[in-house]
Amino acid sequence: MLSEAVIKELEEIRQRYPNARAALLPAIYIAQREFGWLSPEAYEAVSDILGVPKTIARGVATFYAMYKHKPMGRNIVHLCTNVSCMILGAERLVDILKERYGLEPNSTTPDGRFSLVIMECIGACGTAPAMLVNTDFHDNLTQENIIQILESYK
Ligand code: FES
Repeated sequence: MLSEAVIKELEEIRQRYPNARAALLPAIYIAQREFGWLSPEAYEAVSDILGVPKTIARGVATFYAMYKHKPMGRNIVHLCTNVSCMILGAERLVDILKERYGLEPNSTTPDGRFSLVIMECIGACGTAPAMLVNTDFHDNLTQENIIQILESYK
């Protein structure tokens, strides 16, 4: 159930775009923020307010990796393991996250602190390995600094 303030926010978003489908991405983001992930209730809310079928909203959202398609931890680690990052040690970083936090790819720590998502290049090949934690960018990762960085996220 959305608050009146959030319903108003979604209606205002709708007014900024030429049609309801064009407003889907920000509306889905707001629903995710409110529900914590893109639950069936989140899609229902977007569909009701924008008048767009849930299947259309879901079809749009599932194209994007940074929406939460299942319940996730408080901090989402998007770690790149593509070629440049792999050559510079990203696979070892995956092992370190497992050793330190018990964190496997596509899993969440039991305390809900971290979820790990493996990415296929985040555009930082020149300063690889790289990751995003939530929306914060971190590059030149090493076996030492990745833990220092993650320890600042509670
Ligand atoms: S390969 Fe990792 S950022 Fe491009």
